[in-house]
Amino acid sequence: MTTQTSGIELADRLSAVGFSEIVKVRNKILAMRERGESVLQFEGGEPFPNTPDHIKDACVRALAENQTRYAPSSGISPLLEALSEKLRRENGIPASASDIIVVNGGMQALFAAFQSVVNPGDDVLMYSPYWTSVRDLIGLTRGKPVLVDTVEARRDGIRASLEASLTERTRVIYVNTPQNPTGIVLTREELEATAAVAREHNLIVISDEAYEHVIYDGEHVSIASLDGMYERTITCYTFSKSYAMTGWRLGYAVAPEPFITGMKKLTLTSTNGVSTPTQWAGLAAITGPNDFTYWCRDEYRRRRDLLVSGLQSLGFEIEPPAGAFYAFPDARAFGTDSWEIANRLLDRAGVACLPGVIFGPEGEGHLRFSYSTSPETIERGIEALRAVL
Ligand SMILES: Cc1ncc(COP(=O)(O)O)c(C=O)c1O
Repeated sequence: MTTQTSGIELADRLSAVGFSEIVKVRNKILAMRERGESVLQFEGGEPFPNTPDHIKDACVRALAENQTRYAPSSGISPLLEALSEKLRRENGIPASASDIIVVNGGMQALFAAFQSVVNPGDDVLMYSPYWTSVRDLIGLTRGKPVLVDTVEARRDGIRASLEASLTERTRVIYVNTPQNPTGIVLTREELEATAAVAREHNLIVISDEAYEHVIYDGEHVSIASLDGMYERTITCYTFSKSYAMTGWRLGYAVAPEPFITGMKKLTLTSTNGVSTPTQWAGLAAITGPNDFTYWCRDEYRRRRDLLVSGLQSLGFEIEPPAGAFYAFPDARAFGTDSWEIANRLLDRAGVACLPGVIFGPEGEGHLRFSYSTSPETIERGIEALRAVL
């Protein structure tokens, strides 16, 4: 008997989505560790501390009080109110609680944002290098990323660079500041220029502010706070980086109509909301003391300075990044193929970092090192590299 299998395949929309290339590096590290080799890890994207106790305690309390039932799928109302207050105070975004949705991390916020506004065949303008998942999120909408080189745009003028890449199908600009992987913090003027292009060409902005609290030089500006921008912007946030809550899967998005209805429909028909005790933990994070985020920022700055001066002493070209917790040095003194360089550093020095090309063609010739690790690891990593470079 023959079995027909030709229809047994994935839906077309998944063809533009890959498994992250970061997984390849992680698998290689695992295999090395299994062989008993030691690896100094700089490839990750997690805050180094644990979640603060007052946040964990709030979750335990919520469980003890049986806050374990369905919550409204957009979020519990005390959290929405607290977020609305935070957005007005810290971000200058005039959001009411009904413009906010609590979701499962920054990733789900971005997923819902792109799904809400990008039609198949639409173009999405984005600065490159970019966080790799964004390309997949756009692929899933069957839209197309159109890349604008960040460094060139900052040098030659944001407005002219964005306008040169516009097409008849451009519908959205994705903006990420502070930026992963470069650590660039876009200035108010650069965001004003981006906003002017959005307003003049009637584009929607998706703003990814995952690292809003990890900033050393300059200020964090939310593009939705600029004149005439709130009505055309979906802003995505996560608790992951600000409060060391990566494993909790908690984030939120803010946008006016019609976007927020789209985001609510997508949440209702996918996760149907975030686990209730997790939301009570989120409330403690937002309303609790700020010292944790300030402490983290100072610790990241110390680690940044240690890594950057070490990399400079080895011959990498790099200026201290202004935000996030990644260094993205130019590695062309050591070769042109960033996969080859990253593999060489892992094989010969046991130092794991990521090849810049996985963050877009504009990242080729660079490497991404996370400095969200101990100062000892950074010092040992630099010495291990010195021995092989
Ligand atoms: C730029 C950027 N945006 C969004 C996210 C999503 O964060 P999460 O889904 O952990 O909340 C990340 C995570 O690394 C990121 O780097």
